[in-house]
Amino acid sequence: MRSNASPDRSVDIDWIEVPPDSAQLDFGEAVREGLSRASKTLPSQFFYDAEGSRLFEQICELPEYYLTRAEAEILERAAPDLAVRHPRIETIVELGSGSAIKTEVLLRAFLETRDGLCYAPIDVSRAALEESIERLGRDHPELEIRPALAEYEAGLAELRALDLGPTLTLWLGSSIGNLSKPEAAAFVSRIARDMRTDDRLLVGIDLRKDPAVLEAADDDADGVTARFDLNLLARINRELGGNFDLDAFRHVVRYDEDSGAVKSFLESLAAQRVEIPGADLEVAFRAGERIHTEDSHKYGPEEIDALARGASLRVEAQIRDAGERFAVSVFARA
Ligand code: AVI
Repeated sequence: MRSNASPDRSVDIDWIEVPPDSAQLDFGEAVREGLSRASKTLPSQFFYDAEGSRLFEQICELPEYYLTRAEAEILERAAPDLAVRHPRIETIVELGSGSAIKTEVLLRAFLETRDGLCYAPIDVSRAALEESIERLGRDHPELEIRPALAEYEAGLAELRALDLGPTLTLWLGSSIGNLSKPEAAAFVSRIARDMRTDDRLLVGIDLRKDPAVLEAADDDADGVTARFDLNLLARINRELGGNFDLDAFRHVVRYDEDSGAVKSFLESLAAQRVEIPGADLEVAFRAGERIHTEDSHKYGPEEIDALARGASLRVEAQIRDAGERFAVSVFARA
């Protein structure tokens, strides 16, 4: 679906809009389903309401949360070389583009090395898309922008139909880590199926490392990540009329070496009952009982190779930050 429904200077920008898949769980259903289980869960996709997105931006600035800075360092260093090595790329697609701050260094390098470039950010947040295309359009008037307000795969399908030429698809920020490893492998395989010889997939992946460093990244001293996690309960209170007492839960983080996942939980500090009218639910918690809220998977170099091989891709480049904490991998057809 296309529209021209964009603000201010971007009135001439063609938007792609794909309404959310109706098969997807809404918040109330997801809360009822997750909190009715024997091992309670809440899906991490619901972190990102306006307050959650604001807290996530704060997280990215925290001393413990090295991921954003490490990836930005790599992109700064690698962008000119990536642009020179891929002269045929005509379009940069970005999955979950958000503020697209880190992307700018790539856009600039690619713009400098070819006559034209199209940037197609895909995101489910209209506000984030509007803000980023406003800024990028102002700073790079020569850039053609094709925003897609859509889930990843629906946006990719719409863009594919437009045939925007050889494409570099970006999946930054270790977002891959929030999928289980089998889910990530399946998703990369689906992207790979549509890749042509000149297309590339660039993925930002957090690496396995000292558990203390990994746990600190998701459990900072100032408690910003705890507030981010607890915002899920606040969101249930706001949107579903719940009566969670946020002081009666604490944020807990554990690294599981086998899966490479940093697991986040909200732990009930006492036996308590919570009512959530909007989810048609009353739920009991034992003291110490946990709600599993997020997995953030880390990869070893051999797991990145296996991810590529499993999708019939090859690792064309793997670039790390100076501290060897984070990798940006460029995948091409095998
Ligand atoms: C968005 N995502 C890649 C972040 C991560 O590191 O898994 C979300 C996050 N959770 C806690 N801190 C940041």
